[in-house]
Amino acid sequence: MSKLFSPLQIGNCTLANRITVAPMCQYSAVDGSMTDWHIMHLGAMALSGSSMLVIEATGVVPEGRITPQCTGLYSDANEEAMARVVKFVRSISPIVVGVQLGHAGRKASSARPWQGRGALAPEQGAWRTDAPSPIALAPGWPTPHQLSVQEMGSIKAAWVAAAKRAARIGLDFIEMHSTHGYLFSEFLSPLSNKRTDNYGGNLQNRMRWPLEVFRAMREAWPADKFIGAKISGTDFAEGGWGPDDAVVYAGELKKAGADFVTVSGGGVVLDAKVPVGPGYQVPFAERVKRETGICTGAVGLITDPHQAEAILAEGKADFISLARVLLFNPRWGHHAAIALGEEAAAMANAPQYDRVSSKVWPPAKTLGKLVA
Ligand SMILES: Cc1cc2nc3c(=O)[nH]c(=O)nc-3n(C[C@H](O)[C@H](O)[C@H](O)COP(=O)(O)O)c2cc1C
Repeated sequence: MSKLFSPLQIGNCTLANRITVAPMCQYSAVDGSMTDWHIMHLGAMALSGSSMLVIEATGVVPEGRITPQCTGLYSDANEEAMARVVKFVRSISPIVVGVQLGHAGRKASSARPWQGRGALAPEQGAWRTDAPSPIALAPGWPTPHQLSVQEMGSIKAAWVAAAKRAARIGLDFIEMHSTHGYLFSEFLSPLSNKRTDNYGGNLQNRMRWPLEVFRAMREAWPADKFIGAKISGTDFAEGGWGPDDAVVYAGELKKAGADFVTVSGGGVVLDAKVPVGPGYQVPFAERVKRETGICTGAVGLITDPHQAEAILAEGKADFISLARVLLFNPRWGHHAAIALGEEAAAMANAPQYDRVSSKVWPPAKTLGKLVA
């Protein structure tokens, strides 16, 4: 049996294989509430052959959304809309479903990618952004408001409230967003955190708030359900967060009750030098896994089933997190099964599609290898 299609235990949950759907913003919500687009998108992802699905970065407060069209989990309407989508996903697939909770910090109040991604202008409905320190992301971006300790307290309460909403929806897990230059990533990185109080300065201080929030969520989240975080392996920038920091942070998260981390990176500064290439972030995951022993996901330009299999077989990660390749090919998991000789798994989780199983439809055998 391939490693990719072997089961994985995270907390009390057993995943059927090690393919997971990375959180992907769809910029298609209304006032933070999911729409029919999410039914289509998450429905397609649920039939991808993956075992675990992370719902997109979801703001714990309205100001914590990246764009005005991002999802939120701060109102009853948001909760109801997400519950509807999750109920639908559960009706078509046994996939394990959770949500990535987030706060965009100084990168909030921005335009959708297809509208330029930049900071919103006042006439476009811009709002005040919050950050550890009053340092703009880049020229042309507003100077964020420096959060007071009291304000950090109310944002922490919002994370906990969102976690409780996620529990009521019946989600299987939550993932705390602490990478890509959003609020927690801004606290963690010395490039964006210049505070002189207990929440800035050395690594212990910079980690303090994200860890406090994580502990509060762990306490509020049902004990029998799992919880994790998406973290940065590096800022890809001089003087920034690096792999040693990632190891320490992942270790602290583990002590705080995290069942998994997914190791990504970048996003704190816009002029980072990212050496983009196949599996470019895998070495960071590998170090975190080796040095902390926490269940670790690798992400970033993993597109080929044999590449995914090698990462797992060589012990560099416990699971694979896929984003763009699943948008490109929403049946990737099934095709990967064929490519790795795991024919029994192909198309198996939707009997409506049994007619294209490789057992009864010979072209599947060649097409699967071609397109995965
Ligand atoms: C459309 C799109 C939306 C994304 N939204 C999120 C998000 O909500 N949260 C997050 O942590 N990463 C997000 N990402 C990053 C992915 O989760 C992933 O880390 C990154 O794309 C690298 O993986 P890939 O090479 O498989 O695409 C997004 C990526 C894409 C393509």
